[in-house]
Amino acid sequence: MKKDVMLVTGAGQISMAIARRTGFGKKIILGDRKIENAVAIAKVMNEAGFDVVPFEMDLSCRESIWAMIAEAQKYGEIRYLVNGAGVSPSQAPIEVILKVDLYGTAVLLEEVGKVIAEGGSGITISSQSGWRMPQLTAEEDRLLAMTPTEDLLALDLLKPENIRDTLHAYQLAKRCNEKRVMAECIRWGERGARLNGIAPGIIVTPLALDEFNGPRGDFYKNMFAKCPAGRPGTADEVANVAELLMSEKGAFITGSTFLIDGGATSSYFYGPLQPNT
Ligand SMILES: NC(=O)c1ccc[n+]([C@@H]2O[C@H](COP(=O)([O-])OP(=O)(O)OC[C@H]3O[C@@H](n4cnc5c(N)ncnc54)[C@H](O)[C@@H]3O)[C@@H](O)[C@H]2O)c1
Repeated sequence: MKKDVMLVTGAGQISMAIARRTGFGKKIILGDRKIENAVAIAKVMNEAGFDVVPFEMDLSCRESIWAMIAEAQKYGEIRYLVNGAGVSPSQAPIEVILKVDLYGTAVLLEEVGKVIAEGGSGITISSQSGWRMPQLTAEEDRLLAMTPTEDLLALDLLKPENIRDTLHAYQLAKRCNEKRVMAECIRWGERGARLNGIAPGIIVTPLALDEFNGPRGDFYKNMFAKCPAGRPGTADEVANVAELLMSEKGAFITGSTFLIDGGATSSYFYGPLQPNT
């Protein structure tokens, strides 16, 4: 019997947790820029009864996304997408963050939206960072949502002179992810498929550990200490939300981005994490 095909980008902890929760019985194509990451996660999952094919791909490159889609289509129609590839503010310079997290995600949602099967469901992982940045204007939001992918990085608000640092670039990228989910879910809907985002707070993964040990380490430790939950989250808790969004129980949910941050964003605006307290 032919299996449903699931595309997963980013062989990290969040992707793996979601793929383990929702991918059993499916053919999973697991893409990562570092093939060794994809191979390692595929090994763990295949030894636990999953069916995972590792694939080298670069989210920031349209041709590479096409190649991954073509590889997946060898096994059947693509019905599920989990985009958990990305770089954090301590891992990469501004241009790379914009190219991978902002442009790459936009291209992936666009390209998978052209081929997603009826009844399909996609998830992209953004971040609480997109919530923390002050509001953009309605026009800026619209530009992030609707600008053709190849013109995105030429927008004034994404020009290097208008970006303060890597954190600002990351916040803009993650805000853009939410806006692209809203705009793309319309096209996905025309194919009978749904598209949503999940915006995690601090989740213990190698990416977060880089942040704890990076220049903003104290800021992050303070953040989870002073959020209502009083701790960082786990990738499996992110998978709880993904499971809802991927299943029939989430059938009326599309174009949404779910914040799962232990209340850190609330505390940042109205509680002990307020910047000036
Ligand atoms: N961990 C957190 O606290 C946290 C919080 C908010 C959002 N996120 C987001 O969740 C997503 C996954 O993060 P994670 O914590 O699982 O990280 P992770 O470091 O465990 O995994 C990320 C994976 O993405 C891969 N990757 C990086 N650039 C790529 C590219 N250009 N093409 C293909 N693969 C690439 C890396 O090689 C890595 O294997 C990211 O988008 C991140 O911004 C994480």
